[in-house]
Amino acid sequence: MTRLRGTAFSSTTDPGRALITGRCNDIGTIVMQQFRGLAARAPYFSNGSARDLRELVDFYDRRFNIQYSEQEKQDLVAFLGAL
Ligand code: HEM
Repeated sequence: MTRLRGTAFSSTTDPGRALITGRCNDIGTIVMQQFRGLAARAPYFSNGSARDLRELVDFYDRRFNIQYSEQEKQDLVAFLGAL
């Protein structure tokens, strides 16, 4: 959020739901995809930054400092791949 002559405005490369509703409050809000059939639609995230489910799990593990064990990562990848 930035201010120019007292007017607040947002700067984004991804208007999200605002593209449909035209509402400022909807800038940046997105509609989540369903997880069904996830394995068939790599890459993941709206910017395609995770090439496969393992990269997605590794991302969350780092981002939220979850500290999954190798076994837990493999189990989660297998679970996500089975949806
Ligand atoms: C280990 C825990 C998590 C797993 C396994 C997980 C899994 C996923 C998956 C499979 C997707 C869809 C990717 C796609 O279809 O391209 C996704 C997207 C997303 N997740 Fe999570 N998620 C987790 C935790 C979280 C948390 C804690 C948050 C919020 C703080 C979150 C917020 C989001 C958002 C906003 C998206 C859409 C991002 C985008 O498309 O760019 N997730 N997640």
